[in-house]
Amino acid sequence: MTKLSVPRIIGHRGAKRTSPENTLGGIRQAKKEGADWVEFDVKLTADGRAVLIHDETVDRTTDGKGLVRQMSLADLRRLDAGVRFGPAWRGERIPTLVEALGLMVELDMGFNLEIKPCPGREAETARVALADVARHWPEDRPAPVISSFKPASLAAAREAAAHLPRGFLAEVLPPDWLARMTELECRTVHPSWRALSRAQVAAVKAAGYPLLVWTVNEPARARELVSWGVDSLITDCPAVLGASLAAP
Ligand code: G3P
Ligand code: MG
Repeated sequence: MTKLSVPRIIGHRGAKRTSPENTLGGIRQAKKEGADWVEFDVKLTADGRAVLIHDETVDRTTDGKGLVRQMSLADLRRLDAGVRFGPAWRGERIPTLVEALGLMVELDMGFNLEIKPCPGREAETARVALADVARHWPEDRPAPVISSFKPASLAAAREAAAHLPRGFLAEVLPPDWLARMTELECRTVHPSWRALSRAQVAAVKAAGYPLLVWTVNEPARARELVSWGVDSLITDCPAVLGASLAAP
């Protein structure tokens, strides 16, 4: 198995502090802020297309209302996914995964794809997303990390693309994290920073796994986590953390 390399800084949902989350503009913004990778969330539309969106509904991030799982891609495309963030972002759309992959090839970026299924679509979301990746992500590009909170999505990701590294996502790292990861053959660990202890970081590193922690926006916290041995910081503000980690 090849050694897995993950960058120090990964833009969360693009660059969530300075641009609308899970949009192409947000991915471009992350790149401008110095992030080589982004994390984003993938769900399926009613007609089975993989799109970038975090919530079950479009209400918070667009000018529309409704459940993503009840809306077709055509329905979603009519919505503005930028204007709620700010008038300068009017015209941003909910991107398809295929569009996001194309943009990241163009920008020479990598990614952490979080499978964020609507209830009942855990396996299907992984299958569709990984079929898109297989078709539209060149094999000579760095392998993406495929993460999820849902074991059924990770299991389906393994079926669909066993060669792509899977990431074990957790709000709180459970005491049996190693057994759960091993069962799903995950290769990276993605806990929230909030309940993460120095001892847990040491245990994960001693077991040989890269550790990608979210959502780290405070420079002092970022420096502390890196000093503990954390590999990657998933952040809303790549420019802020990049500057802080570069400072002597
Ligand atoms: O993948 C890390 C992080 O994005 C998980 O939480 O709710 O922001 O998708 P959430
Ligand atoms: Mg996410």
